[in-house]
Amino acid sequence: MKAIIASKYGPPEVLKLQEVEKPAIKKGELLIRVHATTVTAGDCEIRRFEMPILLWLPLRIYMGVLKPKWILGTEVAGVIEAVGEGCSRFQVGDPVTAFMGFHFGAYAEFVSLPEKGMIVKKPDGMSFEEAAVIHIGGLNALGFLRKAGIKKGDRVLIYGASGSIGTFAVQLAKILGAEVTAVCSEKHRSVIQSIGADFVIDYTKEDYAAQDKRYDCIFDTVGKDGLFHGLRVVRQGGVYAQASPKFLHTILAPWISLFGKKKVLLTPTEEKISDLEELKRLIEAGKLRSVMDRVYPFEQMAEAHRYVEEGHKRGNVAVAVQSIETKGKA
Ligand SMILES: NC(=O)c1ccc[n+]([C@@H]2O[C@H](COP(=O)([O-])OP(=O)(O)OC[C@H]3O[C@@H](n4cnc5c(N)ncnc54)[C@H](OP(=O)(O)O)[C@@H]3O)[C@@H](O)[C@H]2O)c1
Repeated sequence: MKAIIASKYGPPEVLKLQEVEKPAIKKGELLIRVHATTVTAGDCEIRRFEMPILLWLPLRIYMGVLKPKWILGTEVAGVIEAVGEGCSRFQVGDPVTAFMGFHFGAYAEFVSLPEKGMIVKKPDGMSFEEAAVIHIGGLNALGFLRKAGIKKGDRVLIYGASGSIGTFAVQLAKILGAEVTAVCSEKHRSVIQSIGADFVIDYTKEDYAAQDKRYDCIFDTVGKDGLFHGLRVVRQGGVYAQASPKFLHTILAPWISLFGKKKVLLTPTEEKISDLEELKRLIEAGKLRSVMDRVYPFEQMAEAHRYVEEGHKRGNVAVAVQSIETKGKA
């Protein structure tokens, strides 16, 4: 099968399309023919090996000292190609979407994963590309907002509202009944309004923290807001959540939460299959959607990484792996 292999850690050019062995499945595992995968900011950080200082060494040992041990990529949508002994949730031919997480392997024509893993049937009415992107953005947004205890009537500010996590967070905060202020640049205003934001602040022109408004929760989804900048306008008892914290913040957060009157969250609740099912249910009910930017062909994985790395995508970027298959090379 074809797969994208990283010859070492480094710039997008390290990613090359190569022929590798198709994965074999064991008892309890599924084989998926991948139709779409994704490129996220996190994928670029892993490719460059830009890791938090405390995790650098353990992650380098886990992921490969000189180059990644595995095929990269964490999200897939595709069709079940084969089921291992003992599997009962899925059948050959089922369209599915799955999160590979730290097992990686998504940049390939086929992936194997345990049936008990983070896999659900593809939401009805979604393309494979739209379905592939729901995991990183949707699960993280849901996990952080849930941990922050967002409820009806809360005032929530989503910083970096136009990214993967941000576009899901705006929609999920609205579903939870919050009043949502979205911080993004002017060029993303209309799409952010279309997914339900009540107020939009252009971060290039206005400082949200300079206004009088106080928030029950501020969620910095891109790590570009300052912790103390945002904490100033979180109300007493409120929460500041940060998906991409700086090293200093990981040291300070537990102390602020313990001794201060505001809580700092740096991790979401643990990913559960029920969360993925919840996202599917919301999508099928027409309440949640994937905001799509570009879809690249599989052969252009390096270009997709280059684009995502610029840090200005709108929502999500997918990669159509199926384009290889349609050329009869699977
Ligand atoms: N903690 C966790 O469990 C976890 C899990 C997954 C990911 N992450 C991390 O979360 C981070 C963000 O992920 P993501 O995939 O959602 O990001 P993303 O989609 O790559 O974010 C891109 C968006 O950020 C906006 N942006 C850039 N600079 C900004 C600024 N200064 N102020 C406001 N918005 C700005 C861009 O809008 P403009 O075009 O307007 O600039 C663009 O729409 C990554 O660092 C990733 O590693 C953490």
